[in-house]
Amino acid sequence: MSITSVINYKGGVGKTTVTANLGAELAARGRRVLLIDLDPQASLTFSFYPADEWEKDLAYEKTILQWYGSVLSDEPTGPLHPYVLTPEPANALLPEGGRLDLVASHLGLVDVDLDIAAALGGSRFQHGSPHFLPLHRALADALAAEEFAGYDDVLIDCAPNFTMVTRTGIVASEHILTPARPDYLSTLGIDYLRSKVSELVRDFNRVAAPGPTIDPQYLGVVFTMIQYAAGGPINASRNYMKFTDSLEVPVFRQTVRENKTLFGTAGERRLPAVLVPNANETVQHELRQLASEFLARTRL
Ligand SMILES: Nc1ncnc2c1ncn2[C@@H]1O[C@H](COP(=O)(O)OP(=O)(O)O)[C@@H](O)[C@H]1O
Ligand SMILES: [Mg+2]
Repeated sequence: MSITSVINYKGGVGKTTVTANLGAELAARGRRVLLIDLDPQASLTFSFYPADEWEKDLAYEKTILQWYGSVLSDEPTGPLHPYVLTPEPANALLPEGGRLDLVASHLGLVDVDLDIAAALGGSRFQHGSPHFLPLHRALADALAAEEFAGYDDVLIDCAPNFTMVTRTGIVASEHILTPARPDYLSTLGIDYLRSKVSELVRDFNRVAAPGPTIDPQYLGVVFTMIQYAAGGPINASRNYMKFTDSLEVPVFRQTVRENKTLFGTAGERRLPAVLVPNANETVQHELRQLASEFLARTRL
């Protein structure tokens, strides 16, 4: 099982879209995929469940909020597998063996984040706290349960911040994937993200040793929402993609172009763009290539 956090400090860069489509394409190849929505904005969740259905069927007992509640309670942390959902329209299109599951998010996750930070003695995450290791490892430990052993890929859609819930996602991950738009602010966030991840890894490993330590690997930056003119990406995009080269982070060869029609309606259809029948071939081809490159990079 390979676990990947999808993260950028900037919102609106395509994190959720990349998570959903990468997961969907891997599942369309017959793999068993688990998506985990750790963003309180819950866009990934709402890509598969309409808001009214979420409110009626999921909000009160079937989201990651309730599970993090158990992490914070005095009782032993509850298992995560009872929160796994199998969204219908998407799974109906998958071949034999393919599976696209989801752990849904909740807007109340913001408060949990504050509560976990408080349990650690405030926003500075005091390393001396006896709760430091178990809280940081909560998601990693939950995913180690045998109920998850059958998944090939776990993709975690992180919020654009570095609060406690995001930290549990990174600690659980062997890989980090960073979608970015080719613009100034999105590319700036990449460097900051790297320094925050390094800091987390150093702090965590100092407390964890001689027990298991972590070493998440950067799979790379995926450029999304690329605007094309006359056959190639517009000049402004090219410049920012080059800027990323100077940061010395790996960059995916495959990019995803802007297509408001296809990506904008994916949520209403409850299908990631790559699964939409008879949709724009060029875009779907890019998404498939992205999945191939992802698999190649996770195997490096
Ligand atoms: N390649 C694309 N072309 C056009 N619109 C896109 C593309 N990728 C994402 N979007 C749209 O941009 C918005 C932000 O994307 P999203 O994946 O939710 O970003 P994030 O998770 O980083 O906040 C959404 O409305 C989404 O539908
Ligand atoms: Mg998002």
